[in-house]
Amino acid sequence: MKSKKKPQPRIAPMLKPWSGRFRGATDPDVEAFTSSLDIDRRLYRHDIAGSLAHCRTLERAGVLTSREAARLARGLKQVEREIAEGRFRFVPGQEDIHMAIESRLTEIVGGVGGKLHTGRSRNDQVALDLRLYLRDAVGALIASLRTFQQSLVTVARRELSTVMPGYTHLQRAQPVLFSHHLLAYVEMADRDKGRLRDALARINVLPLGSGALAGTNYPVDRAYTAQLLNFPAISENSLDAVSDRDFVVETLAALSLIMAHASRLAEELILWSSQEFGFVELPDSVCTGSSMMPHKKNPDVPELIRGKTGRVYGHLVGLLTTLKGLPLTYNRDLQEDKAAVFDSLDTVQGSIAMLTKTMEGLTVRRQALMAAASSGFLLATELADYLVLKGVPFRTAHGIVGRLVRDRLDRGKDLADVTLDELRSFSKAFEKDALDMLTIEGALERKAQVGGTARQRVAARLRVLEKELRTQP
Ligand code: ARG
Repeated sequence: MKSKKKPQPRIAPMLKPWSGRFRGATDPDVEAFTSSLDIDRRLYRHDIAGSLAHCRTLERAGVLTSREAARLARGLKQVEREIAEGRFRFVPGQEDIHMAIESRLTEIVGGVGGKLHTGRSRNDQVALDLRLYLRDAVGALIASLRTFQQSLVTVARRELSTVMPGYTHLQRAQPVLFSHHLLAYVEMADRDKGRLRDALARINVLPLGSGALAGTNYPVDRAYTAQLLNFPAISENSLDAVSDRDFVVETLAALSLIMAHASRLAEELILWSSQEFGFVELPDSVCTGSSMMPHKKNPDVPELIRGKTGRVYGHLVGLLTTLKGLPLTYNRDLQEDKAAVFDSLDTVQGSIAMLTKTMEGLTVRRQALMAAASSGFLLATELADYLVLKGVPFRTAHGIVGRLVRDRLDRGKDLADVTLDELRSFSKAFEKDALDMLTIEGALERKAQVGGTARQRVAARLRVLEKELRTQP
């Protein structure tokens, strides 16, 4: 049961901008349920930037006098300062940041405040605000990804002589350079930045001027608004402009892939820092201890990155689901987009910052990596390729070396100390130089094609990446 006493509003119930058509007041529970103020207040700067541009466009169209436009602009800037300095009183019952700003503006500038919304709807306004916000946030994320890449490249440069076992199926497969492994993540982050830039091209379209859905009656010059707000393009269909959230979905998809990559690196850091691997030590600053077991040093940061990946995927699927049944044009369902994209942006920014810190403080256990790369049968493929060189078809060579490996495993022996006689007992194609195949250095150097793990190749790619990171925006 609800308490009999109604919660007393702290101030007189506000008149809604749309109250004219209504006889009764909104139920306070409904106000709470429908309000997005707690979430969309972070749009305030972008909302005000959009309103300032709208103001100038209305002035240019002769809808506002220059005195009115100047007064509105001064008022908007004051509201912006009040919010920035934490002096703004957010009133429960205000539906969203757009209304909160407009009602405070009207308190400040008086009746002319009511003219700001001429020729505009919250539908094109919120689409504009979100595009402006995402443009900044995506730009900032590209910068963070670059810093993250820088941290990987720095370790890759330092560890250019460190060898590790490369894995498939989490089974040791072939020796690779540790730097080659790290640079794989730099390539992923390059694609991540590319996807964000692609998304930016479609975020960067001006929806203002679409009105509620049908367009606007006022002779506004949309190209002028676009120029003021630095939009290279203008939406071409008002119905589409107020209902389109593709750009949010694209952003969420790009964010999801970033998290996929972050989570894979996180997983490797967790594995590598375990006693079982002992390949790296994570900096103390990103680990936590156990409240009970004194010896524990836990990789909570990469674990949380791995864990938070799910919520970003969830937001992507959530928004796609929100969109799938919506008739054109604006529906209130669309308000859900912001919680999804804000939380995802925060999660990705936080995760990338944490990975950067981790890379910056990472200790690489070179001996352990080398020992793991030297034991086992990581050079078996080299022997098979040797036989191919001697004219044996690859499939036959694969079988011969497979039997050799089986035999040595049965006898509890490694491949490193195999003799030529033993090799020849499996195939007469083995000659004296076969044993030369069994060095890690040789195995690395033979992977000399573009994309391979040969030291010269990795060093060359590293130089290119370093230069790109130095020179690219
Ligand atoms: N708070 C709303 C949103 O985020 C703003 C647009 C509301 N428009 C409307 N007609 N109710 O989507």
